Amino acid sequence: MAFEPTERLHLGAEAEVWAGTWMGKDAVRKLRRARKWRHPDLDHRLGYRRMMSESRLLIRLKRCGVRVPAVWDLDPEHGRMVLERMPGRPLIEVLRDTSLSAPFINTVLHNTGALIRRLHREAITHGDLSSNNILVDENGVPALIDFGLAVIDYEVERFGIDLHVIDQILGASHPEHEGAISTLIEGYMAEEEALGPTPEQSGGAVPTAQDVLKRLEEVRSRVRYHG
Ligand SMILES: Nc1ncnc2c1ncn2[C@@H]1O[C@H](COP(=O)(O)OP(=O)(O)O)[C@@H](O)[C@H]1O
Ligand SMILES: [Mg+2]
Repeated sequence: MAFEPTERLHLGAEAEVWAGTWMGKDAVRKLRRARKWRHPDLDHRLGYRRMMSESRLLIRLKRCGVRVPAVWDLDPEHGRMVLERMPGRPLIEVLRDTSLSAPFINTVLHNTGALIRRLHREAITHGDLSSNNILVDENGVPALIDFGLAVIDYEVERFGIDLHVIDQILGASHPEHEGAISTLIEGYMAEEEALGPTPEQSGGAVPTAQDVLKRLEEVRSRVRYHG
């Protein structure tokens, strides 16, 4: 892999991420970390599958014009993947930055909702839409990263859960931005409005934005009821 590392960006339980260059371009290398408590063969198999699935979905989304990193190199055997480095910082930091104007924050939230709808229209759910997995550049344009838990799906439930995860995070970590989720949902609905009904995919019909919103309400009341 022609990757030249410069600094480590992240050391998590599942992955280690380094910033650097690849063919002279800004890149990151994601290294899968071994889970010591798992049998090595099983761990290797799961890690291999997950990296293949993550890269496959990233390539598919990139081709559809959804803002995600390009996959530049892949070595699933050794759990290594080189990706385009997306500029900007996590949504969580942007929301905490008190020097940013309210209209700018609104634009960011609106754009994020629109981007999530673009993802969902490809019949893909993210599975971990925390505000660390959304990177926002200085113009307020978001990108999605970390597709390790993403899947292709046509049932409305996972779509609803995607919105619920971001809803919970906006409510818990960013209570100062009251109505943040409403702005995000406005963007989600507006994107559907702008693009029209989702064309039928090979696997079936993708839930409409309206259906997903309805499911979000159901998930919310389920959570309220069961705690
Ligand atoms: N393509 C990328 N561009 C810029 N930063 C990235 C990129 N991929 C990962 N990162 C950074 O590394 C962190 C961890 O990567 P991520 O794919 O989310 O792994 P994990 O599964 O461990 O959460 C991200 O939160 C982000 O800060
Ligand atoms: Mg992550």
